[in-house]
Amino acid sequence: MRRKVSIIGAGNVGASAAERIALRRLADVVMVDIIEGLPQGKALDLNEAGPVDGYDARFTGSNGYEATKGSDIVVITSGLPRKPGMSRDDLLMKNFEIVKSVTEQVARQSPRAVLIVVSNPLDAMAYTALKVSGFPRERVLGMAGVLDSARMRFFIAEALGVSVENTHAFVLGGHGDTMVPLPRYSTVAGIPITELLTKEAIDAIVQRTRDGGIEVVNLLKSGSAYYAPASSIVQMVQAILLDEHRILPCAVYLQGEYGYRDLFVGVPARLGAGGLEKVVEITLAAEEKAALDRSAAAVRESVSKLAV
Ligand code: APR
Repeated sequence: MRRKVSIIGAGNVGASAAERIALRRLADVVMVDIIEGLPQGKALDLNEAGPVDGYDARFTGSNGYEATKGSDIVVITSGLPRKPGMSRDDLLMKNFEIVKSVTEQVARQSPRAVLIVVSNPLDAMAYTALKVSGFPRERVLGMAGVLDSARMRFFIAEALGVSVENTHAFVLGGHGDTMVPLPRYSTVAGIPITELLTKEAIDAIVQRTRDGGIEVVNLLKSGSAYYAPASSIVQMVQAILLDEHRILPCAVYLQGEYGYRDLFVGVPARLGAGGLEKVVEITLAAEEKAALDRSAAAVRESVSKLAV
């Protein structure tokens, strides 16, 4: 039987993710948006690309939730993107209302789905989706770490003139200015970058990774990044649909791991058919743990502003 992925928000991130899901032949895709005609138009356009790209995935566009019924995965990208000068927290209240109402409707139609939250501020929106859906933590994940790590990997590859395929990077913590790139756990062909790059070069990569989102926002001026976010969503979708048991950095609701409770924080997570299989705990040096504490505190502060 065909698998079904619903994407709420047929904007830049949502539609790009939809296309990649079909190109990888992972599932049929339902796109939902509040703008009349937008999801329908993009769905038709993507269906018409199928004969050329050689996929049989079917796209459906809708302004309601009926078509999402029985989804295996629901990706929530609905909301406002950042504009120049806007922090992810400026988006907090606006996107909270949107994610809350979307989650209620999604959970009603697909009570067994895995939810992947993408709307920003990511950690607070994932928290909202978990509380509003009442789903177990295994089935509510936030997409941020894959993206932040991908950005760091690209910067490492660029600095050393090596293939991105040789790179591995770990970025933990909240998806914001306090995120915690971990050079000690970031490698090129298995060699820690701390042995390959100077401290100054690593510091520059860490800072550029933290500013990865805003660097694109400032260039685009009218929206935020979507190609790398879409690719990152699809890596998580694939890990779940193909039951890969793949370890990816994801925002996960922690229940004591790393010393945090009742909070979404980016950590290495093993993903498989049921969503989260295991939070992987790695040893952190004192300054790494202190940075993660600061990041967790920032997430907790933003969640405390929400009536959820
Ligand atoms: N229900 C469904 N769709 C909605 C709703 C809603 N209540 N509110 C807004 N949308 C839709 C918009 O109509 C728009 O088409 O969400 C879509 C968002 O798309 P874009 O504006 O293109 O934003 P995008 O770049 O895709 O970013 C989406 O992902 O990375 C995050 O910060 C980013 O929160 C933002 C989200």
